[in-house]
Amino acid sequence: MILVTGGAGFIGSHTCVELLDAGYEIAIIDNFCNSRPEVLDKIRTITKKDFKFYEADLLCREKVEQIFEENKIDAVIHFAGLKAVGESVSMPLEYYNNNITSTLILCQTMAKYGCKKIVFSSSATVYGDPASVPIKEDFPLHTTNPYGATKHMIERILTDLYVSDNEWSIALLRYFNPIGAHESGLIGENPNGIPNNLVPYIARVAVGKLECLSVFGDDYNTPDGTGVRDYIHVVDLSLGHIKAVEKVMATTGAHAYNLGTGTGYSVLDVVKAYEKASGKKVNYKIVDRRPGDIAMCYADPEKSKRELGWEAKFDLERMCKDSWNFTINNM
Ligand code: NAD
Ligand code: UD1
Repeated sequence: MILVTGGAGFIGSHTCVELLDAGYEIAIIDNFCNSRPEVLDKIRTITKKDFKFYEADLLCREKVEQIFEENKIDAVIHFAGLKAVGESVSMPLEYYNNNITSTLILCQTMAKYGCKKIVFSSSATVYGDPASVPIKEDFPLHTTNPYGATKHMIERILTDLYVSDNEWSIALLRYFNPIGAHESGLIGENPNGIPNNLVPYIARVAVGKLECLSVFGDDYNTPDGTGVRDYIHVVDLSLGHIKAVEKVMATTGAHAYNLGTGTGYSVLDVVKAYEKASGKKVNYKIVDRRPGDIAMCYADPEKSKRELGWEAKFDLERMCKDSWNFTINNM
């Protein structure tokens, strides 16, 4: 059985669908601090399969131990964590406690029950402002905010764990910019309040809930002056987790993998693609740069292709189409 922490969240829910479709038995732990219980039924509807669910906080050691006591967990996919960069700057202690303490409790419990295989949700944020693109896994790591620091530290903790005990098998998955939704339109990304990230914001403008997108800067050293990112369909990303689970089940070691497409798109490219997919006008205005943003970030996905046998398949048009389908069904 695979334990999925944060399985009710955006990426976790899509990964649970792929795990169930691939025939895995799963248990989910989530405290719904950034998700909703309805997602669980939607996963059941899509897959026509059932799974165990624990509504609990990973910070609660007794509950985590109970899960390992009641189930034979073969591997863990660890999504649970807080992820808003701006919020992490204003609430660093919550971020360090929630993300790092919960990982320590999880790993201590795994060790106690002899489960030493883990796939961890890291982020391209660990590369900071890279000296060049595309970014390879051996580029230097550098983080500039508490959220990024938690990802960097957890990578370090897990790597040290492997050094101390070579029976561990650890995949550190560095996600680029996940967007899109399941093709059913049942699950997707629906942040509370005003979205921080580009595509959820564009979706709300297209559907008429927000008036105008602010494009953060058009004076970057990029083809059209707006920021360039490696947007990846959340279903492709989820399939990367299936490959990573297969890998950690078959080997030992601690390895980092980029999960990106290898292609960079600008903010204006995404606006255009979304307009095409939705048939709606996306109003935008150029405003100042957002502090902390970088010009360009896209992956070299070669290592993932070579070592995991994984490669992203969906293009930007499909990402926007699936995002729009989810938006009109849920907003
Ligand atoms: P999400 O917020 O949708 O999902 C996280 C889930 O974890 C939520 O359901 C939340 O309720 C749960 N959770 C958080 N803290 C918990 C705790 N202490 N105990 C139990 N459950 C808890 O986020 P997501 O976009 O699905 O991201 C999943 C992971 O991937 C996160 O670790 C995030 O930092 C990382 N990541 C996300 C992105 C992105 O753009 N979405 C990019 C890079 C990395
Ligand atoms: C953000 C996080 C990063 C995290 C990643 C994936 C910040 C500073 N960084 O990255 O740590 O790993 O999400 O979740 O929050 N943009 C606009 N207008 C908007 C929103 C965004 O122009 O309203 C632009 C940004 O300047 C950027 C691009 O769109 O060029 C993508 O932004 P966003 O979706 O927030 O992702 P990142 O900044 O890449």
